[in-house]
Amino acid sequence: MSHKILKGKNGIIFGALDNSSIAWKTAEAVHKSGGNFILTNAPVAIRMGSINELAKQTNSRVISADATNIDDISMVVLEAQNTFGAKIDFVLHSIGMSVNVRKGKKYTELNYDWLTKGWDVSAVSFHKLLQVLYKNDAMKQWGSIVALSYIASQRVFPNYNDMADNKAYLESIARSFGYFFGKEKKVRVNTISQSPTITTAGKGVEGLKTFLNYAEKMSPLGNASAEDCANYIISLFSDYTKKVSLQNLYHDGGFSNVGISQEIIKMFGD
Ligand SMILES: NC(=O)c1ccc[n+]([C@@H]2O[C@H](COP(=O)([O-])OP(=O)(O)OC[C@H]3O[C@@H](n4cnc5c(N)ncnc54)[C@H](O)[C@@H]3O)[C@@H](O)[C@H]2O)c1
Repeated sequence: MSHKILKGKNGIIFGALDNSSIAWKTAEAVHKSGGNFILTNAPVAIRMGSINELAKQTNSRVISADATNIDDISMVVLEAQNTFGAKIDFVLHSIGMSVNVRKGKKYTELNYDWLTKGWDVSAVSFHKLLQVLYKNDAMKQWGSIVALSYIASQRVFPNYNDMADNKAYLESIARSFGYFFGKEKKVRVNTISQSPTITTAGKGVEGLKTFLNYAEKMSPLGNASAEDCANYIISLFSDYTKKVSLQNLYHDGGFSNVGISQEIIKMFGD
């Protein structure tokens, strides 16, 4: 797909770590679609990952920022506007991390310091980002802001642990802040609820491969890949979706509306 539907649009992409990241695939797709962007990630991710390679490939700048730090976010937003000489058309928040998941702490035994850290990184950082963009009037009218979620926010997936609560909070922020952003600035705010995807964050969830195989068998269209997700994000950044806002949009091959599939019936058949 190489329609230049983002030609002349400028944005910020948070969360490209390596070439499996959803944000990485999105950056490549935005570049192909004619958009310009600043890439940003936490200092440690810039050191450990390969974001500079992506920057070279897409002719973009990398700015180091911790998404839980308001000063860092403000600096990225200001730098983006200075670089483009214009307000911002699109923003992708593709950030998630749970210390409890990383350390294998069960949901019934959560460590609350770790919970608070993961909540700040995975959910509150989205509020902070929206607040900085809003207060600085940094978004262009009809701009679009997208964050990434997972269906464990709405249904139980026991191994997803406290990330399920973080995603529920994230989706709520998109609706609540999206109201004010829409009313006062004519800017869209949405979350995309993506299929399980093999990425660094995804691999941290115990049993991801099983989630993935199960979802593949349940979804009439099969799982959505990171590339598919990137293309969906392009449509949400484009002018073709100007009146879509305050939504949690399932991008999962139909998984979320299936009770049971014929493949699963066969597996458990009598
Ligand atoms: N992989 C999946 O199965 C899946 C499914 C649905 C939704 N998602 C969501 O997609 C988003 C992107 O994740 P991914 O799967 O591409 O994995 P990923 O590991 O490539 O991306 C996660 C990113 O979060 C960044 N991050 C962590 N702490 C940060 C901080 N303090 N400041 C700034 N950045 C920070 C990491 O550096 C990394 O780039 C996440 O919100 C994730 O929850 C993933």
